[in-house]
Amino acid sequence: MAVLPQSYRPTARILHWVVAVAVFAMVPAGLVMTGSNIGRPLQDALFLFHKNTGVLLLLLVLARLAYRARHPAPPLPAGMPAWQAALAIGNHAALYTLLLVMILTGYVSVRAGGYPVELLDAIGLPPLVPRSDALANLASGLHDSAKTVLIVFIALHVAAALYHGIVRRDGVLWRMRPW
Ligand code: HEM
Ligand code: HEM
Repeated sequence: MAVLPQSYRPTARILHWVVAVAVFAMVPAGLVMTGSNIGRPLQDALFLFHKNTGVLLLLLVLARLAYRARHPAPPLPAGMPAWQAALAIGNHAALYTLLLVMILTGYVSVRAGGYPVELLDAIGLPPLVPRSDALANLASGLHDSAKTVLIVFIALHVAAALYHGIVRRDGVLWRMRPW
């Protein structure tokens, strides 16, 4: 029987799946709330969910990066070609970067546009950027472009994970199991 590669630690696995589930909710929420055929109450609810879950995600992504800095990823299976390992590492770095870019551009577009982020207002955190339509438009444009790149990278990531799990069966999918 093939020897399974070492797994990620439980904390890393829990953080991975909490963030993944949140992102899988954030993307459709963002796309639906900016669509044209949507009633005002649903739109308001989705904006409320999207903005506030988004800022909470910042804490989770930072916690993940801090944990990752202290606990490096376990080694990949020995037989994996170097180019595949390099692609995996590059894709993971891009996913972390894109998550931060999405959260920061979302925050800036809302705050520079003069809109509330209810959770932050409730704890008394004032806007950290000045009110500016130019800045809000710039951040909103970046948020929109980065979301396309994020969706492509997530699709590649999930396809690679399924390839490892179904075709190669080399334990790479197993090492990030949520339980
Ligand atoms: C991982 C985090 C995030 C993801 C994956 C995400 C995803 C998206 C997507 C797919 C859209 C629709 C496309 C678009 O028009 O840009 C969108 C729109 C939007 N998002 Fe996010 N978002 C995230 C974080 C945030 C945060 C933290 C905020 C604000 C605090 C925010 C505020 C907005 C707003 C206001 C829009 C409407 C369009 C705009 O003004 O840019 N997002 N988001
Ligand atoms: C069905 C969805 C998903 C599956 C099956 C999945 C699977 C995996 C697997 C198996 C690994 C470990 C890869 C390795 O050992 O080298 C991993 C790592 C990772 N995943 Fe996912 N993933 C999913 C969704 C997501 C989403 C939505 C994101 C973020 C947008 C994400 C971000 C990451 C990151 C950043 C790593 C690297 C972890 C590290 O080394 O620090 N994943 N994922």
